[in-house]
Amino acid sequence: MAQIIHPVKGLPLVHRPRRLRETRAIRRMVRETRLDASAFIFPMFVVPGENVRAEIPPMPGNFQVSLDILIDEATEVIEAGVPAVMLFGIPDSKDEEATGAWAEDGIIQRATRALKRAHPELVVIADTCLCEYMSHGHCGVVGEDGRVENDASVEVLARTAVSQARAGADMVAPSDMMDGRIGAIREVLDQEGFSRVPIMSYAAKYATCFYGPFRVAAESAPAFGDRRSYQMDPANIREALREVALDIEEGADIIMVKPALPYLDVICRVREAFDAPLAAYQVSGEFAMIKAAAQNGWIDGEQAMMEVLTSIKRAGADLILTYFAKDAARILKAG
Ligand code: PBG
Repeated sequence: MAQIIHPVKGLPLVHRPRRLRETRAIRRMVRETRLDASAFIFPMFVVPGENVRAEIPPMPGNFQVSLDILIDEATEVIEAGVPAVMLFGIPDSKDEEATGAWAEDGIIQRATRALKRAHPELVVIADTCLCEYMSHGHCGVVGEDGRVENDASVEVLARTAVSQARAGADMVAPSDMMDGRIGAIREVLDQEGFSRVPIMSYAAKYATCFYGPFRVAAESAPAFGDRRSYQMDPANIREALREVALDIEEGADIIMVKPALPYLDVICRVREAFDAPLAAYQVSGEFAMIKAAAQNGWIDGEQAMMEVLTSIKRAGADLILTYFAKDAARILKAG
């Protein structure tokens, strides 16, 4: 066979990257990014009642579950090899003080106690936010002028974090985007004897349409307005670096970028600029897009799942919060 001559150098072609793509075994050897179930965190939605397992329509295969079912579902999570869950609670009733968020017998507090009792080895992360517990559905305290008040919100969030730690949460994860909440939460956790409890900060959390399905699942859509006065503008990336820097300075142990796929550049830049463990949240809308296309037969759902998760890792995330956690972990286990 005639040698191919390099068009510019006029020499026979030496560099043939395809050599390392010839076989599956070689491709595996030179693979740069590896997914590992130990990096996954599975989000779960807890509701009051017994024997409740209600599928969330825009999130096929995900359920609102009562405490008893939560324990069984968590068994599945553990068996799949996923080490951690993120808990979201839907309370019996909502009010303007988010009482259900910090009550000792609040839904998250009860769920945390039950989970830790049944599965001590499972890492239970409590989402620290107010939107599910506020009658207006905002992530903070709304003042008379209809604005979300920063400092009043931080106080309630700090109270919430302490109650979650008291219930046995292994980690708290503030997702509200109020200014100064990481510092405030760290301070009260330390005061109350929970200096060992880490904070995973939703540091760069964008105001995005991709939370839509979640708000159905958590029954937390704002009754008026939107979240743009506290969550970030999707157009900004330098601001994300400032937000992350502030949260680390205030004591965040793990930082998060959210959503993931439309913000891979943000993940990449944050990874380059900071060495704290970095989590990325593949949110409900990202999950729903893949599921919907797959259900229509328009893409291969399993391949899309693994490819996107790999891209999030490749961009620089250490940890991935994903509704695919169990499914992806099972595939990884099967090899
Ligand atoms: C609560 C919260 C939200 C998500 C996680 N925590 C929704 C929101 O901010 O409206 C979204 C997660 C997802 O879409 O999967 N503040």
